[in-house]
This record gives sequence, structure tokens and C-alpha cells, in this order.
Amino acid sequence: MEQCAIVLAAWEDNQMCSAEAKVMLEVAGKPIVTWVKKALDQAGIIDQMYIVGHRQEKVRAELGETVAFALQEVPLGTGHAVNQAEMFLYERTGATIVMAGDTPLIRPETITRLLESFSTGNWGALVMTAEVENPVGYGRILRDKTGRLIAIVEEDEADAKTRAITEVNGGIYCFDTELLNQTIVQIEEHAAGRIPLTDVIEIMSQMGVAVGTLEIDPQEFFKVNNRQDLALASQILNRRILDCIMAGGVSILDPDTTWIDDDVTIGRDTVILPGTTIRNSCVIGQRCQIGPASTLDFTFVGDDSTVSRTESSQASIDKNCQIGPWVRLQQGVEIGENGVIDSFVEITDSRLGANCQVHSQVVISQATLGKGVTVDSQVTLVNAGGRERKQEEIFVGNHSFIGSQSCLMAPVRLDKNSYVAAGTTVTRNVPRNALAIGRTELEIKENWALHRSDI
Ligand code: UD1
Ligand code: MG
Repeated sequence: MEQCAIVLAAWEDNQMCSAEAKVMLEVAGKPIVTWVKKALDQAGIIDQMYIVGHRQEKVRAELGETVAFALQEVPLGTGHAVNQAEMFLYERTGATIVMAGDTPLIRPETITRLLESFSTGNWGALVMTAEVENPVGYGRILRDKTGRLIAIVEEDEADAKTRAITEVNGGIYCFDTELLNQTIVQIEEHAAGRIPLTDVIEIMSQMGVAVGTLEIDPQEFFKVNNRQDLALASQILNRRILDCIMAGGVSILDPDTTWIDDDVTIGRDTVILPGTTIRNSCVIGQRCQIGPASTLDFTFVGDDSTVSRTESSQASIDKNCQIGPWVRLQQGVEIGENGVIDSFVEITDSRLGANCQVHSQVVISQATLGKGVTVDSQVTLVNAGGRERKQEEIFVGNHSFIGSQSCLMAPVRLDKNSYVAAGTTVTRNVPRNALAIGRTELEIKENWALHRSDI
């Protein structure tokens, strides 16, 4: 069966008070509309058409060129919106899914179930519905005495009896494409020139075409309209991701304060401690401990590593490392296996070989350290600034030792097994096995305090 989808995203009332189109706001790490696309993709629907409005540029850029777009210049209702897909639907057959772009909680399995139910009967349309406690704002499902669906009545056009109906339209449909093409042009204008898609149900029903409903969990057609909805949808999606990760053998101690993107991979028996955010394709190994209070973005962590109170972006931490607490890794950092990075350390654009130890309060920038290097506390390995960035400004050979409160000024090269004495500023290259020591001579002025002029 030929199948396609039309996603309506051309109209919003800007309750979000945002400069962005509503569907571009993020829930659980992705724009709202990207969740809709992902659900359609996973349900195997390749042909997708998005109806967009005046703030369309970013929506188009986000969804890419694999989907089609049509502009609805004036939002005259959901039927009018579907009508903008006329060329897309032209001469198509099979099934067409129609849904809103602001329903990120729809599950791919549910779309698949809708398509399956549709293909097993001779349906003109199937509508996703649910019984809800408070039906306000939804179209009500109108049935005849035998229980057959005959129409969907919108809130503002419903009489008191219809308003009391608690079975509502979820706004997600599967249509017979040829029948949709035939009936979409027959919808008559309502007040203020509005053309509601829901009228095709009544039109089809009057034509004697079978129209039916598929009951789903109302959470799945939850619409994100304001910032409160955004927070709620994020929590629900995040919880689904965490449940999936936990099912794979990962412990998450506090799901309420843990946020993980759905493209993150975490190995079994890893423990995630509270206050941790793991974003953008991170890969975490087995038996790791991540957190508390850590943010990992584009980061790889090998098996058996510990990452505590760390901000890491574009970093690769090999197996059996201990990172943190209070560490920042950024702009391309590689830490070899068995590495220890102590507290209050910032490493930028640098590579550290296996078995390196970096003690507390160290800053390393644009440096390459060999294997087994020890950097004692309060050391600075930096480009003195101002100069144009070169590759590998600082090089430290295998098994070298840099004593505390030293400073290596780029460009400089320490050959292997070299030593830097505490408190030394290294401005020249140090050969293999050498000790670099440079301290100004200490002067002691006896009884100086007794003769201070200000006393
Ligand atoms: C719609 C249904 C209602 C259903 C509810 C479920 C109609 C007439 N009503 O209500 O029965 O219970 O969804 O949530 O369809 N849109 C456009 N162009 C327009 C108008 C809307 O693209 O001219 C898009 C919106 O961006 C939105 C979607 O269509 O994503 C639905 O519009 P919305 O106003 O949210 O639907 P309701 O009228 O609340
Ligand atoms: Mg509306």
C-alpha cells in the first residue's frame, strides 16, 4: 500500500512568546517537529509533507531535504492546510496520515497500529480518539444510535449535549488518499472563512463510506501550546528515554534530575548519578559511573571510567579513567586509558596518552602529552595568548614530570623522561632525561617588619 503523511505546522497563537516557530522549540533535546518526523520515519513513512507558515526557514533547515514542504500563507483552518498539499497528493493512492506538528509524544508504534487497522478494513478514514475527563478544546466524536462515527463537532460549534461528550478527536488520522482528494475540496467555509479538516468525516459518512476510530492513550496526542506544556512533554519524553536505557541494564539513581538524549548509548552496569545531562550522540561504556552534576556533550567514555562533576564537550575519555570532581574538558580532548584528572582542572584542545595523572588546579591548552606524564598541582600549560594558533604548541614526552606551580609557555617541547622542578617557568625546549629548574633567588630581609615606614 502506498503511504504518505501530511504534518500541519503552519499556524500558532504564539503563547510561547518566542522569536522561533513553536515547532522549533526543543523538548528533550530535539525540536518538537523533529520528534514527529522521527515517529513517522520509524513507522516507515518515507513520503512526508510539512505544511509551514511564515516562520518556515528554520523548520525547513531542521527537517532537511528528504521531506516536502508547502507554504500556507493565510491559516484558514486544518482543511485549508491539507489543501496546500494538493500537488503532493495528486494522483496518489493508498493511505495518507494527517497529523499536527506540535504533538511530539506520538509513538511510532501507534502510527503503525493506525496503518495496520486501516489496511485491514475498507476504510475511508480512521481517526485516533480517546475518552478524556476534560474534553474542553477538542472536537467531539459524534456517533449515531448504532455507534457509527458520523461527524466530528468542534467545541465552538457544539450544543450543550455535544459538549458533554467525552470521546474526543486526537487530530491524527489515516485517510484513503483518493477519498481525501475527493472530499477535501468539498468542505464548506465556516465562520471567519475557516475550513476545518474534520468536516471530511461527515462528508465521507454521508457518502456511505466507512469511517471509524482507533482508541489511543490521550497522552500521545498531547499538544504543546505553552511553556508549561513544553516542560511536561520534555519530562515525559525524557522518562521514556531513561526507561529504555534502564531496560538495557543501566542504573539511573534519580530520573527526575537526569536528562539524556535519545541518541546516547550507555553500556550495562553503568550508574548515572543525580543531576546529570548526557547529550548529542555520547557513547558511554560499561561499568562506568557518571555524575553527580555532570554534563556530557559529544563525549566518548570507555569502560570502567568515573566522571564526576564534570562539563565535557567534544572529548574522548578512554577506559578506566577517573575524571573529576570539578573538571572541564572542551574543544577536542583525548584522555588515554587509566588517566586521572583531579579536581579543578580545565583541559582544552589537548591529547593525553595513557596513564597520565593531572593533579588539581591545572590548566592545559593546545598540548600533547605522551604516556605516563604527571602534571602536579597548579601547573599551567598554555599558549601565552595573542599569537596565531599552531598545532601542538606544547609537547611533553613520555614519563615526564612537571612539578607544581610550574608554567610551560608555548611553543615548547619537553623530551621524554624530563623533569620540571616546582615553580619553574619553561620557555625553552628540555632535552631527554634533563631537569629544568628556574626560580629567582630568595632574599630574606632580617627585621624588616620592625622598620616598616607605615608603623
Ligand atoms: C484540532 C481538531 C480537533 C481536535 C484537535 C486535537 C480541527 C478543525 N480540529 O483542533 O477536532 O480535537 O485538533 O488536538 O482540525 N494548522 C495549520 N493551518 C491552519 C490551522 C491549523 O497548519 O490554518 C495546524 C496547526 O499548526 C496545528 C494543527 O494544524 O499544528 C491543528 O491546529 P489546532 O488549532 O491546534 O487544532 P484545533 O483547532 O485545536
Ligand atoms: Mg484551532
